[in-house]
Amino acid sequence: MDQHLYSQGELTLVPEVALNLSRGCGNPAGFADIQSGEVVVDFGCGGGIDVILAAHKVGPQGRIIGIDFAPEMIERAKQAIEAAGLQERDIELRVADMAIPQLPDSCVDVVISNCVINLIPDKAAVYQEASRILKHGGRVAISDIVLTEKIDSELKERFQATWPGCLGGAIPEDEYLNMIREAGFAEIRIVARHLLTPMELEAMACCPGEEFTPHPAKEDLIAVQGKVSSIKFRAIKHLH
Ligand SMILES: C[S@@+](CC[C@H](N)C(=O)[O-])C[C@H]1O[C@@H](n2cnc3c(N)ncnc32)[C@H](O)[C@@H]1O
Repeated sequence: MDQHLYSQGELTLVPEVALNLSRGCGNPAGFADIQSGEVVVDFGCGGGIDVILAAHKVGPQGRIIGIDFAPEMIERAKQAIEAAGLQERDIELRVADMAIPQLPDSCVDVVISNCVINLIPDKAAVYQEASRILKHGGRVAISDIVLTEKIDSELKERFQATWPGCLGGAIPEDEYLNMIREAGFAEIRIVARHLLTPMELEAMACCPGEEFTPHPAKEDLIAVQGKVSSIKFRAIKHLH
């Protein structure tokens, strides 16, 4: 993981099992303005790093639901919750597709997600579900990967062939933000935007690791240099 995404204080709250599995590109619990007692859902929670940080913010009165479609990840996240001493808290970890989170309408204050939605072909469906489960006035706080401009379609296809490498599903930022507006969100505030360095790009293209994702050709990586960024943003659910 990139240790710089989290403060030293935050890192001390997270056990090794979650740190080792951290594959994010931001720290959504850190900029979601989470309040005590809130209900927070983490889309694609992985090994649970942001679930743990959000749990500390909502406190004993709050509730966290971590969703990941990989049972191995949910198992690790459960271990991480125990290791963090949070087993008495109201934390549910469920194996589910975040496009079908199986939660009731308007039951959630905040949806966070860290470097996951870019992987999904139907991103609009994910934001529509986020909108459906959020209370009116609820918010999303998202870290994700976007393109600064459209990339050549053959190049994009080659990255998609290395699924689940984290670049294949990235779309241009303006297209991404329009999709969020169409899902019922407004007041989009970009908290940070960072153009990936060549080293970050390479790590992202091979995410979650070279043993799972073949290394892309050097010239393909060079071709996307300067065109991929991580963004962190918040947006509020409004009624249509
Ligand atoms: C790049 S990792 C990020 C994990 C975590 N958010 C973090 O910051 O470490 C992507 C995660 O999303 C999960 N994932 C991918 N597609 C998903 C989907 N459609 N529904 C739920 N989880 C998904 C993967 O299993 C993996 O744990």
